[in-house]
Amino acid sequence: MTSSNPSLAVDFCGLNLATPLVLLSGCVGFGEEYTRVKGFSNRDVGAICLKGTTLEARLGNPPHRIYETPMGMLNAIGLQNPGVEHVVREILPALDFGETRFIANVSGSTVEEYHEVTRRFDDSPIDAIEINISCPNVKEGGVAFGNDPDMSARVVAACRSATNKPLITKLSPNQTDIAGNARGCIEAGSDAFAVINTLMGMAIDIERRQPVIGNNQGGLSGPAIKPIALLKVHQVYQVCKPHGIPIIGQGGVTTPEDAIEFLIAGAATVGVGTALFYDPLVCQRINAGILTYLERHRLPNVSTLTGSLGLNGPSAC
Ligand SMILES: Cc1cc2nc3c(=O)[nH]c(=O)nc-3n(C[C@H](O)[C@H](O)[C@H](O)COP(=O)(O)O)c2cc1C
Repeated sequence: MTSSNPSLAVDFCGLNLATPLVLLSGCVGFGEEYTRVKGFSNRDVGAICLKGTTLEARLGNPPHRIYETPMGMLNAIGLQNPGVEHVVREILPALDFGETRFIANVSGSTVEEYHEVTRRFDDSPIDAIEINISCPNVKEGGVAFGNDPDMSARVVAACRSATNKPLITKLSPNQTDIAGNARGCIEAGSDAFAVINTLMGMAIDIERRQPVIGNNQGGLSGPAIKPIALLKVHQVYQVCKPHGIPIIGQGGVTTPEDAIEFLIAGAATVGVGTALFYDPLVCQRINAGILTYLERHRLPNVSTLTGSLGLNGPSAC
C-alpha cells in the first residue's frame, strides 16, 4: 500500500515552503541565475538563498576562484557582491516573491558590519536572513567568527538585535564542537541553522608548485563532503530538537536519496548548491524522488522523516 497524495510542503520558521529544497548561497547568484535555463523554475524549490552580501560592494578574490576536485569543488570567490544598498534597492524589487521564498545571506568582517547589513535587510521584503559566520574577524586576528563559539554567539546576538525576521545561522564544519557552538547560538537568539558550510581545502599545481586557487585555500563543497555534513546535521539536531529549531541540511546533495538521508539525520529542509553546476534541473528530480519515497513508505509529509534516524547499539567510540 502507498500513501495517496503525500505533501512536499514544509513549515520553516513560520514560512510555508512549497518543497523542502533550498537553493544555496553562492550557487544561484541573486535568484535570477538559472531562470534563463529552459525548464528551470524557482517554483521547484521552497526557498532561495541569495549570494553573500556585505555592507560595501566587493570585487572578490583574484583567479582561479574555483577548481574541480574528485567528487567536489574548491571555491574562493571572496564574497563578490554589489553591497547591501544595491541588493535592497535594485535586486529585491525585481524578484518574484510569488514564486518562492527568498533568504538573504549576510557576511561581515566585523560584528558591527553583520549588525548593519542585517538591519538593512530587516527593512526589506526578504523572507528570512541567514548569517554566514565563516568570514574572518579582521579586528581579532582574522580567525573565522564561526570557528570560535564566543565570536559566533556575539555575531548572532548582534544580528538578533537588528531584526525580527527568521534568523538562520550557517555553521562552519571547520571547528571541533559544532553542537556546543549551536547551543550558544540558540541562546544568542538563532531561530534556525544551516549545516554545513564548506570545509577548507587546497589544490596544488605541481609544475608551478603553487596553490591552484588564487586565494591559496578555498571551501570544499559537493559529494565529497556529504558524509561529514550528515554527521554534523545529526549532532546539531540533538541540540535543536528540544527547542523545535529547524535545520537546512546541506553538503553534497545531488540525488533524492541524498536529500532523504539529510531529512532522516534531522534536517527540516535540504540545500542544493554545487549539484546545480552540473545539472540546473536537478531539483525537479529530487522533488519527484522524495515524493515517491513518501508514497512507498506511506508517509503523509516530509516532516515525518525529520530526525527519524534510529541509531545502532552502543559502540566503543
Ligand atoms: C561557488 C560557491 C560560492 C559560495 N558562496 C557562498 C556565500 O556567499 N555564502 C555562504 O554562506 N555560502 C556560500 N557557499 C557555500 C554553499 O552555500 C553551501 O553551503 C556549500 O557549498 C555546501 O553545499 P553543496 O555541497 O550542495 O554545494 C558557496 C559555495 C560555492 C560552491
